[in-house]
Amino acid sequence: MCGIVGVVGGKSVTSLLIDGLKSLEYRGYDSAGIAVINNSEAINIKQVGQVELLERKTNESSLSVAKIGIGHTRWATHGEPTITNAHPHSNADGTVFVVHNGIIENYKEIRRILEKDGYTFISQTDTEVIPHLIDYYLKSNSDFKDAFIKALNDLSGSYAIAAIYTKTPDSIYVARLSSPLLIGVGKDQNYVASDASAIINHTQKVIYLKDYEMATVTTKKVQVHNFKRKADVKPEPESLDFDLEKARLGDFPHYLLKEIFDAPETIKLASAGRIRPKSNIVKLAGLESVQEQLKYIDRIVIVACGTSYYAGLVGEYLIEEIAGIPVEVQVASEFKYRNEPFSKNTALIAISQSGETADTIAAINKVQDYGVLKLGVVNVVGSTISRITDAGVYCHAGPELSVASTKAFIAQVTVLLEIALSLSDGKSKLYKPLINELAEIPTKLISILNQSDKIESLAKKYSKYRDFLYIGRGYAYPCALEGALKLKELTYIHAEGYPAGEMKHGPLAMIDSNFPSFVIATGSSLTEKTLSNVSEIKARGGPIIAVVSEGNKSIKNYTGDVIYIPKTLEQTQPLLVGTVLHLFAYHMAVILGKNVDRPRNLAKSVTVE
Ligand code: M6R
Repeated sequence: MCGIVGVVGGKSVTSLLIDGLKSLEYRGYDSAGIAVINNSEAINIKQVGQVELLERKTNESSLSVAKIGIGHTRWATHGEPTITNAHPHSNADGTVFVVHNGIIENYKEIRRILEKDGYTFISQTDTEVIPHLIDYYLKSNSDFKDAFIKALNDLSGSYAIAAIYTKTPDSIYVARLSSPLLIGVGKDQNYVASDASAIINHTQKVIYLKDYEMATVTTKKVQVHNFKRKADVKPEPESLDFDLEKARLGDFPHYLLKEIFDAPETIKLASAGRIRPKSNIVKLAGLESVQEQLKYIDRIVIVACGTSYYAGLVGEYLIEEIAGIPVEVQVASEFKYRNEPFSKNTALIAISQSGETADTIAAINKVQDYGVLKLGVVNVVGSTISRITDAGVYCHAGPELSVASTKAFIAQVTVLLEIALSLSDGKSKLYKPLINELAEIPTKLISILNQSDKIESLAKKYSKYRDFLYIGRGYAYPCALEGALKLKELTYIHAEGYPAGEMKHGPLAMIDSNFPSFVIATGSSLTEKTLSNVSEIKARGGPIIAVVSEGNKSIKNYTGDVIYIPKTLEQTQPLLVGTVLHLFAYHMAVILGKNVDRPRNLAKSVTVE
């Protein structure tokens, strides 16, 4: 999600703005920018990708003495991630600069009115109406605060806004409605931010702005005004009890558990601004630049490694079923050595949390000369894969610190579902039901997370075994592979994922009372078939843990070790099942005393072949 930081006072604000933006990186973003005023002259610098790249740009220019500035990390919703669409946005003569979090719902209407009045817009964003609107009111002899309030009264939607004006180079103007904004009170320097992590290194004293409040923040003073009630408000600073490390880990004992519990938020972050149930729209800003090419794609090849590969397998089922385009998923390390034909109508989708996986990068480089459209589904903004692909959709899961990928899997599956919906162009009969169901998944996930203790008890019961088989059919099959990988890497226990239908073709021979099976038989047309595999396992004395959908009564005939997930569409089941499997592997690892966040022999980012 977007992030805001602002600083007024002191010797130089530029490095503070950059540091603040770096602390906001965890929220996910795809471009960043700052605007500073130095002797009534403004400098606006923006960059697509990492804050580090923006920092390099600011080092090159003479910003070192600016005493006021605002900064922003943007996560594209209206318009692609480009320098033009990045914040801060300004009016035509470059005197008013604005950064904004949230969505201005009536921006098209405001834009139309302003355009009739001679205003020109250069970006595709909703935010750009704000500086122009302020400019409009400034022209009618308002002072800045007055013009700012008049503009706020015209906006509908949600916002946290920070603005600066070259003619009042001692003030930052901020406002909020349904989007967080706080003011940090320092000594000879004040701060504004959308999130305490951006200012915590400078002050612990903060004023939380409330809805319909705006404030004028100078070096020495903070004046708050309620623009709905038209009344000044006495600011009440509070003390920030905030430890950055603790804030990131919260009350969780491990990053892995925290990241598993991030799943509901991860889905919201990966769909915000992209999935719009009210208007029935799926809008992927990152693919806008290749819309025309996408119309001619008749084959998709997905390349990835590890968990990203398993997310890709779910993506294969989704894209084929929803968009009707044939998909093939290949492990990147195999793909790069194969000799297969490509046509110009092929798209390659590279999936990677880190965006730095050497094999996946090599796979992309391999198709460089074939005219293939190269797309990325990447989490880390500005990473190599995001730069060497033609276009892509960021996962926006925020930093994943634990070596085992969990929330990245959830985000990748969500994004692949969005890509499938977007490619279907609204024609699939699943289009509307899936848009609606995706909005329900975060709540359904909470009911799974609430079963963490129960899953822990099951893990205790099964922690004595040294081999596991994970089986499923349809969408449950890639989940079985993911569940087995998570158990392997976190507990070092031997585990295999298999299509349930393959049992009789070999794996059944392994089954005895020492070889448990983790069966995924969540509601689908294939459940009965999977249950017949379960009866074969039971007949051979194999212990069984089952994940089924609520309401499944027949499972009790086979095992008492059952985890129930809320009913959902078959296509969204991997999001719920994935979280069950992640929790099981986590609890097993803790029970067995393993290094949960840093499993032996593994690295978070595999940058060598
Ligand atoms: O950063 P990537 O998504 O490209 O990484 C791919 C794999 O290395 C990664 O998913 C690995 O399998 C995880 N440790 C699994 O939890």
